Amino acid sequence: MTEQTIALVTGANKGIGYEIAAGLGALGWSVGVGARNEEHREAAVAKLRVAGVDAFGVPLDVTDGASVTAAAELIADRAGRLDVLVNNAGITGSVPQMPTTVDVATVRAAVETNVIGVIRVTNAMLPLLRRSASPRIVNMSSSVGSLTLQTTPGAETGPIAVAYAPSKTFLNAVTVQYAKELRDTNILINAACPGFCATDLNGFRGVRTPQQGAAIAIRLATLPDDGPTGSFFDDAGEVPW
Ligand SMILES: NC(=O)c1ccc[n+]([C@@H]2O[C@H](COP(=O)([O-])OP(=O)(O)OC[C@H]3O[C@@H](n4cnc5c(N)ncnc54)[C@H](OP(=O)(O)O)[C@@H]3O)[C@@H](O)[C@H]2O)c1
Repeated sequence: MTEQTIALVTGANKGIGYEIAAGLGALGWSVGVGARNEEHREAAVAKLRVAGVDAFGVPLDVTDGASVTAAAELIADRAGRLDVLVNNAGITGSVPQMPTTVDVATVRAAVETNVIGVIRVTNAMLPLLRRSASPRIVNMSSSVGSLTLQTTPGAETGPIAVAYAPSKTFLNAVTVQYAKELRDTNILINAACPGFCATDLNGFRGVRTPQQGAAIAIRLATLPDDGPTGSFFDDAGEVPW
């Protein structure tokens, strides 16, 4: 009998993260629902279980080192290893975010969650991921973080946002650095863009469903051992950095 795959999805209580958890759970995986709000986390776990997913709650605030350490301990106690980490939790920060008038605290908050949070969670989970036969890390980025697209006239890159968009550029750069350090390991780490999905993040203005947004993360979470690493993908293929 093959061992059940163990995954952790951060920010999985709603939106795209919830759908990633549902999609990975549908593969028969055991899925940790990382979420900071207890009520929302337990509601998501209950809903996933009703849908047949082997879901378990993981209290997790990606900006809080003690919380992240405790989350790693919870997974170590439960499973002894982690096969797939999806760093999905993210915030836009308050708007507007015009560069010339922004409150720097808004920029700092976006970086703290969208970048430092990913590094914090990844490094806490790495000892567990190293025990997996085929570890995968997926960082939920955005095409708004692509400097190539941001500087391409006519490309769709959303509103000017000096906190959110550069935080995803930073996350992309961080993803590349991890891939370089981990090149000689079996860990594959990639960035994903879900497209513009209707979630709380954008006041449900997105044109895709959260389920559609989850698809690319699920694909990168299930890459074969000879799959890519250090790249950036959406449903259509590679996204330029
Ligand atoms: N929606 C889009 O169109 C779109 C496009 C490109 C990229 N993305 C990216 O996709 C990811 C998911 O976004 P979404 O659209 O699903 O947004 P969402 O519905 O607002 O969900 C964001 C999730 O992140 C969690 N989160 C935020 N800060 C956290 C923290 N400090 N610790 C733990 N969890 C935290 C939220 O928890 P709470 O419920 O507790 O706040 C929530 O579960 C984000 O990284 C986002 O940047 C989204």
